[in-house]
Amino acid sequence: MKSFLLLGLITLFLTNSFAQSIQQAEPIYLQCEHLVNPVGIDNKRPRLTWMLNDDRQGALQTAYQILVDTDSLALVEKGRGAMWDSGKQSSPDELVKYDGKPLTPATRYYWQVIVWDKDGRASKPAIALFETGLLGASNWKATWISDGRDIAHREAPYFRKEFQVKKAVKYARAYVAAAGLFELSMNGERVGDHHLDPMYTRFDRRTLYVVHDVTAHLQPGGNAVGVILGNGWYNHQSLAVWDFHQAPWRARPAFCFELHVHYEDGTEDVIVSERDWKTSSGPITANSIYTGEHYDARLEQKGWDKANFDDSKWQGIRYRAAPSMNIVAQQTVPIRRVRSYKPISSKKIDAQTYVFDMGQNMSGITELKVKGPEGTIVKIKHGERLLPDGRIDMSNIDVYYRGDKENDPFQTDILILSGKKEDVFMPKFNYKGFRYVEVSSTAPLALNESNITSYFMHSDVKPKGSVKTSSKLVNDLWRVTNNAYLSNLMGYPTDCPQREKNGWTGDGHLAIETAFYNFDGITVYEKWLADHRDEQQPNGVLPDIIPTGGWGYGTANGLDWTSTIAIIPWQAYMFYGDSHLLEECYENIKRYVDYVDRISPTGLTTFGRGDWVPVKTTSNLELTSSVYFYTDARILAAAAKLFGHAEDHRKYAALSHKIKDAINAKFLNKETGIYADGSQTELSVPLYWGVVPDDMREQVAANLNKRVEATNFHLDVGVLGAKALLNALKDNGYGETAYKVAVQDTYPSWGWWVVNGATTLLENWDLDAERDISDNHMMFGEIGGWFFKSIGGIIPDESAPGFKHVQLRPIFPAGLEHSSVTHTSPFGEIKSSWKKSKSAVTYDVLIPPNATATFYPPSNVVETAMVKLDAGQHRLKLKIKK
Ligand code: BGC
Repeated sequence: MKSFLLLGLITLFLTNSFAQSIQQAEPIYLQCEHLVNPVGIDNKRPRLTWMLNDDRQGALQTAYQILVDTDSLALVEKGRGAMWDSGKQSSPDELVKYDGKPLTPATRYYWQVIVWDKDGRASKPAIALFETGLLGASNWKATWISDGRDIAHREAPYFRKEFQVKKAVKYARAYVAAAGLFELSMNGERVGDHHLDPMYTRFDRRTLYVVHDVTAHLQPGGNAVGVILGNGWYNHQSLAVWDFHQAPWRARPAFCFELHVHYEDGTEDVIVSERDWKTSSGPITANSIYTGEHYDARLEQKGWDKANFDDSKWQGIRYRAAPSMNIVAQQTVPIRRVRSYKPISSKKIDAQTYVFDMGQNMSGITELKVKGPEGTIVKIKHGERLLPDGRIDMSNIDVYYRGDKENDPFQTDILILSGKKEDVFMPKFNYKGFRYVEVSSTAPLALNESNITSYFMHSDVKPKGSVKTSSKLVNDLWRVTNNAYLSNLMGYPTDCPQREKNGWTGDGHLAIETAFYNFDGITVYEKWLADHRDEQQPNGVLPDIIPTGGWGYGTANGLDWTSTIAIIPWQAYMFYGDSHLLEECYENIKRYVDYVDRISPTGLTTFGRGDWVPVKTTSNLELTSSVYFYTDARILAAAAKLFGHAEDHRKYAALSHKIKDAINAKFLNKETGIYADGSQTELSVPLYWGVVPDDMREQVAANLNKRVEATNFHLDVGVLGAKALLNALKDNGYGETAYKVAVQDTYPSWGWWVVNGATTLLENWDLDAERDISDNHMMFGEIGGWFFKSIGGIIPDESAPGFKHVQLRPIFPAGLEHSSVTHTSPFGEIKSSWKKSKSAVTYDVLIPPNATATFYPPSNVVETAMVKLDAGQHRLKLKIKK
């Protein structure tokens, strides 16, 4: 039981006293393709994962067996898997790829896993399910339809069809592919709780479809299905500087629909989108993902999506070519309205104007319930700032909008009241970035807080990390970072939810560790990296915003931004121990690295944007870009080794050495230990990304420390330095300095934003800056992830990724009395929690079953030797140095 190694002077109390309730291992949290019981899986060899519930000290999995069958009873009662029986595998793996008979489309599979614990005892079986999607465009029976109108036509088209259900229904599924956005309803009810489906992709290369279980929506006899289409990014009608209105895929929205009704008697009906559907315009008179939605409540057609509706005035539909021949299931967590907000204050400006403060900057939408005279025009404007007179100030976010501000105002919904009832409005095909909502109307309205609710909406990733400490600022920074992160996750990571909504690559990878420490987001990134593969040019080049309608293949779309292609799959492998994404992107990384190699024969490159939005000191572009080139080559070499490509491994390992040598030859002054001009970024970027020669690390780190002391522990970095700085200090013995910078609260610092009332991270250190001033940006978001690595010290180990082995490298910095950091790894929860007393630290650790850890004491404790820890709870008593 005590399989840990006690080295040095550390007093370690094994926690026999902790409750040990489970005497047998139990597989829990079964997932397929990183989703719980997913419906609509298109991968032919889906990944199956589970965790172990076994709180005994040193808990291990020694073997597993997986059975897959279409019949759950066959599994449960007979212990048989007609599709697949993996046999008993002596393996600690908790992630296994399906390896049975070929899967068939639209089929439900049950899978069962049994695990053997460290004593060789078998667990009870645990069962979960997954259901295949249509597995390829050729399996669709329906056709693509639209209303055939012009791309400039502003009204959202409504579609309907009635059908009969004459037998008892066992189950029913709706498969909806769309170019643009859709909302599905059946028999008068909205189907599901997703928003903005399907996610934004490079529509002409990959079209997503969504599967809904609609069994409960069906009724005996007459039924009706309704579909409303929105423009989304497919038919971008609002002009902005990124030319989305000129996207090559642009067309009137269209969709392809199949409803599979399975009857109790074993027969099946398939209702498809075809000639017999009808279409009409409705109350949505304009919709733009970028600006807002216009809704005329006078045009509502009651009962349009119910049976027996009189649709004699509706038109016939038009057939349309499929937007792409690559129709794939949307295998990712949906966008949902995750939290609702009521105003924390409101201000009546005059009888026709109210401003509400929702108390939180967020991405999302607002619902307004209002009664007033027929034809009253109500404008619902969203923004992040207020003018001195209390009205909304849009000037920090509407700068790149080039559209018709009169008829298509930015971040503004327009509602026209019916006059007949209380109108309830919430946009379907748009979202905004905002904290304040201004409601103005052409007639006086009596409004108060009960009329308005805002919803924080984003890809609904499950939280998997927490930070709780004695420092209010640390706790606030963590929360604020997460709110910026979530505001910028809409099926792809964005830079900001208001001004751009662009999938800026740099912002995406700069935030990736913070993302994975805090949220279970792998499916979002698997989707976004598929977008990368869709966008890559044959020569390897990637645009700096992804997806793109064509913008972004300029000259600055280089390594510090588009290294997403290597960094994100690598981090997915580190955090999940799942090499699938890395493997999928392998050829793309290679193509990318080969391109940069071709244009950079010396190993150095200026292909990049540089340390964007610095405080004041700019940094050398060639240095930072070349460090990212080195990083990509290194990742590629490691991936080549992992996948057994020996020749590639040799080639790219050699390339990475060449780049490193070239960087050090040109930029490192071996006498002084200074890179380039020695800015915070120029010193920390080579340190963090492992470019500094081993024998120079100490000197370079000491220089960085001095440089930071000289600014009195303030930042002087842009985005690249903000990613590297805290790590470069802490990883090289200057944890105290790093912590002081992290909790600095005067300008320039992260804390400065928070003490000035920020509820999300900002885009600019300077609160009075005149450009790059969104109030909800994630590119400086390393801070939230760094707490996990520093005061939590929870760090993945490249040689046993997915936290199979956890590196525990916490710091116990001055000024922080206690800290508790948790992260749910693929093996379960890791907890790293400590509390100081007069001269000691009590360090409590939880290591999940089937994982191990090594604790590396920080330099401010007396103990120096590392401690190996097995699964379970541990308490370490450490003495603080005098
Ligand atoms: C975006 C940034 C982005 C940058 C690149 C800005 O407009 O908001 O987050 O990375 O451009 O230049």
